[in-house]
Amino acid sequence: MNYYNVPPNFIWGLATSANQVEGAWNEGGKGFSIADVEKYDSAKDQNDYQKVNQITTSDIQTAMADKNTAAYGKRHGVDFYHRYDSDLTLLKQTGISAMRTSIAWSRIFPQGDEKESNLDGLKFYDHLFAKMQALKIQPIITLSHYEIPLQLVLKYNAWYDKKVADYFVKFAKLVIDRYHGLVKYWIPINEIDSILRHPYSSGGLVEDRFPHKNFQEVIYQALHNQITASAAITNYIHENYPDLMVGSMITSTMVYPYNSDPQNMLQATAVMRESLNFSDVQIRGQYPPVLLQKIKKLQLNVKMTKQELQIIAKGTADFVAFSYYSSVCTAYNTEGLKVTKANRTAGVFNKYLPVSEWGWQIDPIGLRLTLINLYDRYQKPLFIVENGLGAKDTLTKEQKVHDEYRIDYLKKHIAQMLESVNNDGIELMGYLMWGTTDMVSASTTQMSKRYGLVYVDLDDYGKGTYQRYKKDSFYWYKDLLSYDRQIP
Ligand code: BG6
Repeated sequence: MNYYNVPPNFIWGLATSANQVEGAWNEGGKGFSIADVEKYDSAKDQNDYQKVNQITTSDIQTAMADKNTAAYGKRHGVDFYHRYDSDLTLLKQTGISAMRTSIAWSRIFPQGDEKESNLDGLKFYDHLFAKMQALKIQPIITLSHYEIPLQLVLKYNAWYDKKVADYFVKFAKLVIDRYHGLVKYWIPINEIDSILRHPYSSGGLVEDRFPHKNFQEVIYQALHNQITASAAITNYIHENYPDLMVGSMITSTMVYPYNSDPQNMLQATAVMRESLNFSDVQIRGQYPPVLLQKIKKLQLNVKMTKQELQIIAKGTADFVAFSYYSSVCTAYNTEGLKVTKANRTAGVFNKYLPVSEWGWQIDPIGLRLTLINLYDRYQKPLFIVENGLGAKDTLTKEQKVHDEYRIDYLKKHIAQMLESVNNDGIELMGYLMWGTTDMVSASTTQMSKRYGLVYVDLDDYGKGTYQRYKKDSFYWYKDLLSYDRQIP
């Protein structure tokens, strides 16, 4: 048994998002969100995220008219909307003190641009947060987690239009005013950098809707609008509720050079900067010169007003939240090299690391390096708000799930996190494992890519009983949290 030390008030918890668990896509007045038209397609290579996430206006229209609801995994999720009470009671048994989820924008403003909010949608979150409070589970809330109302895509082209950023701020202020007494930690936008890699799910951007525009310009404009909205929300919280904290949230995929060739190191640095440049804006309050240079070089006409830049300058985040699953290698010349993918980032295979069933390389030391890099860069409190393993699990005849591979993953990552806390001089607020119960995968819309501590009997086509079963990892996490600071 190893003993471990974490700072007082360290937050141990779990994380998910509304669109991946709630289901009830058309109940309580909810409108379509972009997630509700994503369909699992077994014919597509699930590791080819480019293709999996390519969606056209005609796909959206077909999906909206499609009566075969079960095929759209995020419409049913795992029915958390109806089962949150028992799910939370079950999850609390692990000893968690916090859970991250998102508020689905399309429950509160079903079309996105209404004058009045939808009371039934708010009531759902009233009940959810009341239950969490009763169980002493602190909610950590994301305001935009890949689930913008679909009508905002069809009517305004989503985040590309500054009006949509205004609608988002309106939605955010409403829920912050309503829940500020229950929710201390807010994350305006999940993985702010991710729009570069998957513009549809992160920004609601559909390429065929911009026939006369450079799509890169569209993406950078939408990103700027997200950054401005996020800063406006941060300012609102700081001015009105100074006890609350707001986080920047980025995807942290550790990137190594394929070998010691300096050109590969240069490339690895460039790829890492692609994500870091956006936390740079949110933590430092200004665009780093390299990003402005890039926008100029690519001749992208991104409209930024003086007033927006002032909002960004003022609205700096209080902590740096990030997701970490994997690492990749990179090389300036990939000819003849085996490629790999991790969290929608392409790279070169690393022969030193094992790989998950979805081809993501498993690298606990990469988590420690991420903590060091982020802390050295910002000297702000860090928060691991996603870390976990997507794997195929089997429910045995005895109704058990022996997911020792997930326990191994968690154990090794948490061990590196603790090493870092104790030896690297970093400041860490908490650790949230990605997965509560199982949920629908963000990238592939699969149910079989499971992350949870609790197995849900459901397949990729929405068939199953929705019954919940505790996995071996459930008991392991419970032991970790309850054995007075010992690693089981
Ligand atoms: C993160 C997202 O990047 O990756 C989550 O914030 C997502 O929403 C997680 O679920 C794992 O990715 P996937 O595609 O395996 O679900």
